[in-house]
Amino acid sequence: MKNVTDSARRNTIKHLLSVPIAAVVAATGLRPAQAGLLVPTPMQSRGPFYPTEYPADTDNDLLKIGESASLAQGRAVRLSGKIVDRAGRSPREAVVEIWQCDAQGRYRHPWDRRSTPLDTAFQGYGRYRVGADGNYWFRTIKPVPYPGRTPHIHFLIRGPGFEPLVTQMYVHGEADNDRDGILNSIRDPQRRAQLIVDLKSIAGSVELHGRFDIIIDAVLGV
Ligand SMILES: [Fe+2]
Repeated sequence: MKNVTDSARRNTIKHLLSVPIAAVVAATGLRPAQAGLLVPTPMQSRGPFYPTEYPADTDNDLLKIGESASLAQGRAVRLSGKIVDRAGRSPREAVVEIWQCDAQGRYRHPWDRRSTPLDTAFQGYGRYRVGADGNYWFRTIKPVPYPGRTPHIHFLIRGPGFEPLVTQMYVHGEADNDRDGILNSIRDPQRRAQLIVDLKSIAGSVELHGRFDIIIDAVLGV
């Protein structure tokens, strides 16, 4: 009996090997576009400073809280990008969350016990509900270093049909990038580069501009 089973298994394998790829694609419902899947954005640790309590305002403008007249200290940055799956298609919906320290390197978090005073005008956390076009944007500050870390912004992307992606975005040209243990835990330089964004000044704008496209590790049936 065992031999019959083994022989049947061998025949099945032989059959699968002989089936043209196009037939496999048709039989499994995979689309030809999946032949060239995009490399997903690397995951990074969430770190200890995800908010324990959200600020009074959680919108995508971290430079001010609500209608307050006071603006956060630091260099203003406009970040934008697109959320796509490995086939380059945007999910029907997603939420992007970001959090980061203020211009003095302090997080709005009870575990950050550094003595530097907190910039109470900085929101520190924000979220953006992404529509079917996949685009998101935030206004925040250029991240600064704090002891042990190169400048970074934490990201969390979640939505129906895919595992949440937790990662961190870095700034091109920062001297500490080469020494940062978390960034360099990604061994492949090309994959590390997926997290490093060039913040550029644009004529006529007081803000720096950066684009951070994010590829979730999924192929969605949208
Ligand atoms: Fe951090």
